[in-house]
Amino acid sequence: MTEAKRQAAEKAIEYVEDGMIVGVGTGSTVAYFIDALGRMRDRIQGAVSSSEQSTQRLKALGIDVLDLNSTGPLSLYVDGADECDPHKRLIKGGGAALTREKIIAEASAKFVCIVDPAKQVDVLGRFPLPVEVIPMARSLVAREILALTQAQPVWRQDAEGRGVVTDNGNAILDVHGLSITDPVALETTLNQIPGVVAVGLFARRSADVVIVGGETARVL
Ligand code: 5RP
Repeated sequence: MTEAKRQAAEKAIEYVEDGMIVGVGTGSTVAYFIDALGRMRDRIQGAVSSSEQSTQRLKALGIDVLDLNSTGPLSLYVDGADECDPHKRLIKGGGAALTREKIIAEASAKFVCIVDPAKQVDVLGRFPLPVEVIPMARSLVAREILALTQAQPVWRQDAEGRGVVTDNGNAILDVHGLSITDPVALETTLNQIPGVVAVGLFARRSADVVIVGGETARVL
């Protein structure tokens, strides 16, 4: 899958135009995109980054990282996904960066999603749905999600068994056992629970273009 990720990322470079400020997502697929962006750094103004991880990689390659408050709306956002359905609706947040990713997707005119073929599904939900929550609301939100969906929210832990802390200082619940037949409705419902910061469903603002890496990259 590594080669497929690289291929999708290289294809996404075709959407980058001279002088652009590029919205940049997070993850192993995006890492290939950042590397490709580094090769054309003198032709772009800079990037808006969705995570500390991507910021470090961008800066290491000499790409200016800009504040979204100063840039205003962006023309282009490039990011990966954990799952993608035939309507270009996504599950994201496997890298815990979903909130900033959602903000940049909303601010961008075009969202190009880069995936390997394993990410394509007919119905979203096999990948546990990440939900970023305010720490004090973790148990409350978990109980409400269980009552609403009968699916199982699990507090995400790191390799040392400590609760994962996002770049925004929050916790992540991964919701296991969903079969999401109406992603817009579920996204809207979960967004209403007090303490939810962001839901890793990108259905209300789905991708505009999906590039699937493979023997030849396919653009959907
Ligand atoms: C991070 C994300 C990533 O885009 C998603 O997890 C895919 O990652 P990868 O490209 O490493 O498979 O949403 O929050």
